[in-house]
Parts: sequence; structure tokens; C-alpha cells
Amino acid sequence: MKAHLPLVISVTSGKGGVGKTNLSVNLAAALAADNKRVLLLDADLGLANVDVLLGMTPPFNLFHLFHEDVALSSILMDTPYGFKILPAASGVGEMLALSPGQKISLLEAMDEFEDQIDYLIVDTGAGIHDNVLYFNLAAQERLVVLTPEPTSLTDAYALIKVMQQKHGVDRFKVVANMMPDMNTAKEMFRRLYSACDHFLSGISLDLVGVIPRDSTVRDSVMKQKPFVAIAPACPATLAVKELARNIQQWEVPNKLDGNIKFFWKQLLFRE
Ligand SMILES: Nc1ncnc2c1ncn2[C@@H]1O[C@H](COP(=O)(O)OP(=O)(O)O)[C@@H](O)[C@H]1O
Ligand SMILES: [Mg+2]
Repeated sequence: MKAHLPLVISVTSGKGGVGKTNLSVNLAAALAADNKRVLLLDADLGLANVDVLLGMTPPFNLFHLFHEDVALSSILMDTPYGFKILPAASGVGEMLALSPGQKISLLEAMDEFEDQIDYLIVDTGAGIHDNVLYFNLAAQERLVVLTPEPTSLTDAYALIKVMQQKHGVDRFKVVANMMPDMNTAKEMFRRLYSACDHFLSGISLDLVGVIPRDSTVRDSVMKQKPFVAIAPACPATLAVKELARNIQQWEVPNKLDGNIKFFWKQLLFRE
């Protein structure tokens, strides 16, 4: 058995605009700065994509792998920040429509890649449509992003509820983003926790990160560079680095056929 398996982490929320893509990109950069091998899967089909935040234009995405026989190695793109990105573009619906032969080739290609990464971070879209749910289902850890807005709370709750009721997933990790202070973060988490405790049973929720509201985030979006790279001492950077260190303490489930393969199998071969 392989000594070390990658961990697959999805970044998700019920609501758009909470900071998922910024968190995904900066977490990837922070883990890479700790010498971890990271692949960021851009599964968000919205406007502010990973490539926009990085100022990169990937020539290929998964669509080309499926339809134009472009090799996985040509689709993966190195970033200047030590991690790679895998642009998805076409989403799960597209993947489910592949022929069994295409699915198996994709699995084999991913399997070869397994030894080369420590973390697969999946930036999902917002909402609770199948696209988002499947990526969350296939991931091993789910980071649910909350903000101080009340709607982010109800939307996070709705996401957790549907993940549990439709898919039996009951373990979530929470990142509080755009927080004015620590008390607000604790209060938002407490409210989510108490709603889950009241109306759902057996949900495990952990507050694993608190990221302050920080104007550097917006500046870095304008500059199309991760804030952890261009503002090493800003509050958002310090918080994301702490989350990255925290993540490195998490146990990696030791699945027999590997975590990346497991992830893609769940996505591709579900009924
Ligand atoms: N910690 C933060 N402080 C200030 N602004 C933030 C923070 N996190 C995200 N933002 C801003 O929120 C907006 C939405 O972020 P984005 O990552 O695109 O969200 P999502 O992927 O959830 O839709 C962006 O304009 C970004 O600059
Ligand atoms: Mg996004």
C-alpha cells in the first residue's frame, strides 16, 4: 500500500460571493508554500473563476480531455505559486455522460497522478444543485464557508441538510470568512451548530478557520494574484496560513484504491 495518500477537500457554501474561490486559491498557495503538492480543481462554473483570480488563461479544460483527446498532463496547469490547477469547465453533467471507456481512461489518468499530490482542493459553485452536491459527496473533507450575513447561515444550513438527507454525509468543517471579529465568527458558528442540532440529527461540525474581513483580499483580486503571495503579513494571509497548518494535522483516510481515484469513481460511476 502507498505510504501516503492525498486528501480531497471541497470548498463549498449554499451561497455565492462568500469567498470560496478566494479561499481555495489562497489555501492552495499556502499549502504549496509549506512544500505540499497541491492540485486545485476549478469546479465552479460561475464568473469569478480560479483562472481569473490568478490572471491565467488555461488553454484546455476537462472538456478537451473528454472530447478532443488532449492528455491530462496538458490540461493541468502550473501556477507561479507552486500549485497546479485543473480547469473543469464542463461540470459533472458532462462527466456523467461519458462512455464507460472514457470514464475508465479518466480514472487511469487520475490514478497515475495520485502519487504526485498531497491535497486536491475542489472549488465548488454555490447552491445545492447536483453539480455541487456530487463534488461535495466525493470529497473527504468539506469546508463550508460562512459569512456574517444571515442568508449565508440559512444557505449553509440548507446545504448541510440536503447533503445529509440525500447523501448521508454528516461531517462538515466550517470556515468563517469576512469576519469583523472573533466573537462574530463564534456567534455565526454557534447559530449554525444549534440549527443543525435542533433540526437534524448526528451532524458533526467543526469551526476550523476564521478569516477576517480584509481589504487586501479585494486588492489581490484586482491584481489577479493570491493575497498570501503578495501580502504575507495581512490578517487574511495569517488566517489562511493558520488554516493550512491546521489542515496538515488532519488524518488522511487510507482508502484501498486511493483517495483521488475514490473521488473520481464517486463522481463518474454513481448511479
Ligand atoms: N476575507 C475577505 N475580506 C474581504 N473581502 C473578501 C474576503 N473574502 C472574499 N472577499 C470578496 O468577496 C467577493 C467574492 O469572493 P469569491 O471568492 O469570488 O466568492 P465565491 O467563490 O464564494 O463566489 C470577492 O470580491 C472578494 O474580494
Ligand atoms: Mg467562486
